[in-house]
Amino acid sequence: MSKDAFRLTSPSGTEIELQVHSGSVGPDGIDVSKLYKELGVFTYDPGFMATGSCESDITFIDGEKGILLYRGYPVEQLAANSSFIEVSYLLLYAELPTPVELEQFRNTIRRHTMLNEGMLNFFKGFRYDAHPMAMLAAVVGSMSAYYHDTMDVNDPAHRDIFAHRILAKLPTIAAAAYKLNCGQPFIYPRNELSYCENLLQMLFAVPAEPYDIDPIAAEALDLLFILHADHEQNCSTSTVRMAGSSGTNPYSAIAAGISALWGPAHGGANEAVLNMLKEIGDASQISKYVDKAKDKNDPFRLMGFGHRVYKNFDPRATIIREMCHKVLKSLDRTDTPMFDLALKLEEVALKDDYFVEKNLYPNVDFYSGIIYRALGIPTSMFTVMFAIGRSVGWTAHWREMISDPNGRISRPRQLYTGPSQRDYIAIDKR
Ligand code: CMC
Repeated sequence: MSKDAFRLTSPSGTEIELQVHSGSVGPDGIDVSKLYKELGVFTYDPGFMATGSCESDITFIDGEKGILLYRGYPVEQLAANSSFIEVSYLLLYAELPTPVELEQFRNTIRRHTMLNEGMLNFFKGFRYDAHPMAMLAAVVGSMSAYYHDTMDVNDPAHRDIFAHRILAKLPTIAAAAYKLNCGQPFIYPRNELSYCENLLQMLFAVPAEPYDIDPIAAEALDLLFILHADHEQNCSTSTVRMAGSSGTNPYSAIAAGISALWGPAHGGANEAVLNMLKEIGDASQISKYVDKAKDKNDPFRLMGFGHRVYKNFDPRATIIREMCHKVLKSLDRTDTPMFDLALKLEEVALKDDYFVEKNLYPNVDFYSGIIYRALGIPTSMFTVMFAIGRSVGWTAHWREMISDPNGRISRPRQLYTGPSQRDYIAIDKR
């Protein structure tokens, strides 16, 4: 057995050596790809609790220590010193940009913010109360109908244009969806503004009067986008990779990722947290809801608590928690019942044996909704904001996946539990 191999013996006594792969940091992975061919069995791991699906250079997480690195840089340092646009460059191109590279990148993103006018017509077809995530998934998917001349997934230049378009146009699409919900006219992008200032003005400006952009609001959004930018093989990113592995166009792959993000166990949790806090209502009800969350016969879970990977704390939650204080103070929100209730709920849950034993801590989504709400962003838009930030992570992963020369279509196996072969019964005999 070579030093790096892992020996496995089947019940019938056949022995094989499985290669062990090491990353630059983190636990090793056992290569089980020849298991089926050689032993006729496959690994069974619903929910991928112990299964790595790819190699990746982009993001590293140590869930025990609460470490999150983008291309090696700690998220805390990026949150304190960088901007979402710079972090986007880092995720896409693997290194921090020089000042010239950053300016060029910023200008490129600015020049792609407008939507084809035809695309705006889609919004006329949606119901006024359509969920903005539904509109986002649909309109991003429809981008493949507009850019088919630059969708050769094997062409690096096309992959670059796609990356710029997604990053630049997602805020415009998100704002258009919001304006439809409000019954207000669509506001065009203004390219002299920063990424987050532009998003704020597209969301909140109206043609009837000037709109002053609050710098603290822009700063808070920028921070949230940095924290949401990537999180290695989470559900939506894995969805983007899986859809993209078939060779489908990247807009369709991102639309699939947006749909996966929408679920309440994933990005939809920020919306669910606010709805939960509203339902709890006041501190006197907290113990009742904590008991519900602990009750195995009750499907209720404390939204914004727990994480598949983080088992001590979510470093993003720590940063956002601080930002909550800053935003609420600077916006002069002295009346902060929702935040106060969230802090109280956090305090009660963190002292509760059930949450302590199961390592359930507040995650990024526990606080992000409180900031979005303070900025005047409605609950239904929370997951859309998450999608804007995560779009760069999806894009970086799609690019990495599609340019891997050893890449193949993602196609898991299954443990079939249905009936074994049987004969068709004519309808009059059933
Ligand atoms: N409230 C009550 N119990 C919980 C919770 C919760 N929020 N989360 C996990 N548990 C319990 C769960 O019932 C299970 O108990 P047992 O071992 O007795 O069966 C145990 O903790 C482990 O949970 P799990 O569902 O097996 O863990 P998972 O890794 O499959 O799920 C999770 C992780 C994030 C989906 C889950 O913790 C959850 O549903 N949390 C609430 C939704 C949420 O906040 N999601 C946002 C995640 S962070 C942002 C993102 O990734 O998008």
